[in-house]
Amino acid sequence: MSDFARRLIAWQRDHGRHDLPWQGSTDPYRIWLSEIMLQQTQVETVIPYYRRFLARFPGVAALAAAPVEDVMALWSGLGYYARARNLHRAAQRIVDAHGGIFPRTAAAIATLPGVGRSTAAAIAAFAFGERAAILDGNVKRVLCRRFGVEGFPGAKAVENQLWALAESLLPEREVGRYIQAQMDLGATLCTRARPACARCPFHDDCVARRDGRIAELPAARPRKAVPRRSARYAVIVHEREVLLERRPPSGIWGGLLALPELPPEVEDAACWAGTRFGLQCAPAARLTPLRHTFTHFVLEMQPLLLQVEGGPDSGPGRGRRADTHRVAEADDAYWQPLHALDDAALPTPVRRILGALARPDLFTG
Ligand code: ADE
Repeated sequence: MSDFARRLIAWQRDHGRHDLPWQGSTDPYRIWLSEIMLQQTQVETVIPYYRRFLARFPGVAALAAAPVEDVMALWSGLGYYARARNLHRAAQRIVDAHGGIFPRTAAAIATLPGVGRSTAAAIAAFAFGERAAILDGNVKRVLCRRFGVEGFPGAKAVENQLWALAESLLPEREVGRYIQAQMDLGATLCTRARPACARCPFHDDCVARRDGRIAELPAARPRKAVPRRSARYAVIVHEREVLLERRPPSGIWGGLLALPELPPEVEDAACWAGTRFGLQCAPAARLTPLRHTFTHFVLEMQPLLLQVEGGPDSGPGRGRRADTHRVAEADDAYWQPLHALDDAALPTPVRRILGALARPDLFTG
């Protein structure tokens, strides 16, 4: 027997869970029901549901004969309702195709609706003592930490490696206790956050603990590469006002005031500002670029400083104004006093760009 299995079994005897309502029975129906309920739900939540369900449907025949609405009603509140529909369908399959006798091997059990390889192995081990490995989320975490398995456990190659490891560790005897031990260790000590390593039977040989990598193992799901977009934004200033434009209602920053975005084909920004806003500007100067991360993409922002030049008529208006006011030539553009930016509903990166504008030497007015 592997040292891993021997120690785990000894630990389960002394420290594992022994009085859960589905333990102490080898009735495959009861074990199946508990394993399905426990797939996505905590033990404490499952217990009352499990008792009520068994009281109403004590065996596979009763479940198969029930209207699906009754099954759903007893499941209501447990969540993941596909589990209940599959349970009902599987019961009917057992009655119709197996003469009402619960299948006796992990391979046969795994063909039932809603039963995967790991759940089938747990049922076969608990009910029939079959030597079959399990690999649920808890077991993956224990194996990745104890043996230092790298990579995201949901990735096919890593999962295959973990299945092979799980198979190689299986004891010849006491498989049921061994499987319960794996579940118990993962649920009570080797938890995702703040595991109780001091009480763990693998305290001295756990790779993750030895290398100080408990928070890194198992590896997290790799982040998908996020698409990148780049755009140029005009920072048109005159005296101490900046030109802001209302964004279209849909798309990023929908409906908010923001810096005008230059169409990609524009080559001469000053020329574009002349056509678009009727402003005569000095040649554009690049300001420090900024990267902003949205949920689905990263926006590389290149701000271009355009200072309005020329006589008093070329700017937003004669004299200094304290309020936001419309740019004469464009419906949705406004002059925003730089001292009143706090009051404007601006997207964060726009605010950051404008914050960097506080340098007085940028202004001639
Ligand atoms: N989670 C999944 N199966 C379990 C079981 N048999 N006992 C406790 N928790 C579990």
